[in-house]
Amino acid sequence: MSKVTINTLLSKKAEGKKITMLTAYDYPSAKIVDEAGIDAILVGDSLAMVVQGLENTLPVTMDEMIYHTRMVSRAVENAMVIGDMPFMSYQASRREAIHNAGRFVKEGGASGVKIEGGLEVVKTVEKIVRAEIPVVAHIGLTPQAVHRMGGYKVQGRSDKAQKRLKKEAEELQDAGAICLVLEAVPTELAQEITEMLSIPTIGIGAGPHCDGQILVLHDVIGMFDRFVPKFVKKYANLKEDALKAIRRYKEEVEEGNFPTEKESFK
Ligand code: KIV
Repeated sequence: MSKVTINTLLSKKAEGKKITMLTAYDYPSAKIVDEAGIDAILVGDSLAMVVQGLENTLPVTMDEMIYHTRMVSRAVENAMVIGDMPFMSYQASRREAIHNAGRFVKEGGASGVKIEGGLEVVKTVEKIVRAEIPVVAHIGLTPQAVHRMGGYKVQGRSDKAQKRLKKEAEELQDAGAICLVLEAVPTELAQEITEMLSIPTIGIGAGPHCDGQILVLHDVIGMFDRFVPKFVKKYANLKEDALKAIRRYKEEVEEGNFPTEKESFK
């Protein structure tokens, strides 16, 4: 497998091949995801909930995001690494947005950034793209807007909301976004947007017709069970496996069965 770039993602859409994306937040998990051949790794601000144990994604800082992005970039050989711009790193001013996007590339080693939001971030996306930083846009359920949305709810059910999401998708594409994450939107709407755009759509809770899919790694491997959305599919149960292993270790130490001669020095 060779290094994934924005050209790889665009060619995959053109050739009708699905794009695979997962999150990763540290060196060992990024190494596994990369070795599995996943196209792109998002260092998602979901790490606030998944690894920091916070209630939502709002408190995670730029410095923390850069810290995690650096670990991921260090591990990756082929996947494209995308840094997720945290809440309030791009909303206050475009100047600040460009500066913070630049930090993901310069300090984090990422090849692009992701930004949540629709019409209100179109100009910001344009400015970041002009600074030579690829941008992944993200509309539909945008977790940084949890307070405005009144919870984590499916978006785009009404005609008005569907019209707005389509307009946002088009304007974000025109602003230069390299792909568009569609989160928690009805399948038909995601299909329409996918057919409308020349850039790839990446679905999460957006049905099977998107050009690619993304999930949170810890959900996929069964490491995070505090909150499991309907769109998650668990492919392993690492929490159960880890519990078994740790309980066995505890038992063996307590019973004097570990360490043995094999694990000791002469
Ligand atoms: O933060 C995140 O992990 C995300 C994706 C799951 C789309 O935004």
